[in-house]
Amino acid sequence: MFSYYGSKNKIAKLYPLPKYDLIIEPFAGAAWYSVLHRNKNVLLNEKYNVIHDIWNWLINEASSELILNNADFYSGQDISQIDLPKPHKDLIGFCINRGSIAPRNIVQKWSCQVASKPNWASTTNFALKRIAKILPEIKHWETQFGDYKNLPDIEATWFIDPPYQFGGEHYSVNGIDYSELAEWCKTRKGQVIVCENTKADWLPFTALTEIQGQRVKTIEAVWSNYT
Ligand SMILES: C[S@@+](CC[C@H](N)C(=O)[O-])C[C@H]1O[C@@H](n2cnc3c(N)ncnc32)[C@H](O)[C@@H]1O
Repeated sequence: MFSYYGSKNKIAKLYPLPKYDLIIEPFAGAAWYSVLHRNKNVLLNEKYNVIHDIWNWLINEASSELILNNADFYSGQDISQIDLPKPHKDLIGFCINRGSIAPRNIVQKWSCQVASKPNWASTTNFALKRIAKILPEIKHWETQFGDYKNLPDIEATWFIDPPYQFGGEHYSVNGIDYSELAEWCKTRKGQVIVCENTKADWLPFTALTEIQGQRVKTIEAVWSNYT
């Protein structure tokens, strides 16, 4: 839904289609797989309070109008003093930057550029504009705060995208026991899709596609109990 470190916005379409009416994302982040299949029922779980609170705000409080009314920024602008509820401000803090791990305060050049205003004049932020458009279609979603292990084991499409085994240490919340997580993934009811990169060894992952990260290229990988 918004720009975030490790998010699957560009590659969400490469994963298997959901077989169930309910999608559960135990490690929600920006939840791009659910955004792609947003007509489904969706349960997002997240242990990083900043991310959880953004989802809770989007689903239960925000309106497209409110988002659009606070979406005009200029390159280099400092938004730290902006007077908005924290989850709204944090959402903006992710949208004015690319792939950051936490909300930022300084507006990056690319986030507001339009071809008709090549001098980086103040204009509407792309990401916020897109969120305002999508928002009415996700109001039936639900969100839960806490550890992935607290989720009930119900039949669903489980899209499981934890911090990478190698590379996930940058998240504010990490410290996953991967052998425990492997067992948990294998015992979920329904369709299970697990994301990683090819460096991981906690499940027999297969290569999906190569992606260019901010510093290095990695090969995204997937494991599923459905063929
Ligand atoms: C790789 S990101 C998810 C990216 C998401 N699929 C997307 O498209 O943006 C992993 C997320 O898991 C969260 N997380 C880390 N440990 C967790 C835990 N034990 N339980 C729930 N969430 C956790 C992190 O805060 C992070 O937001």
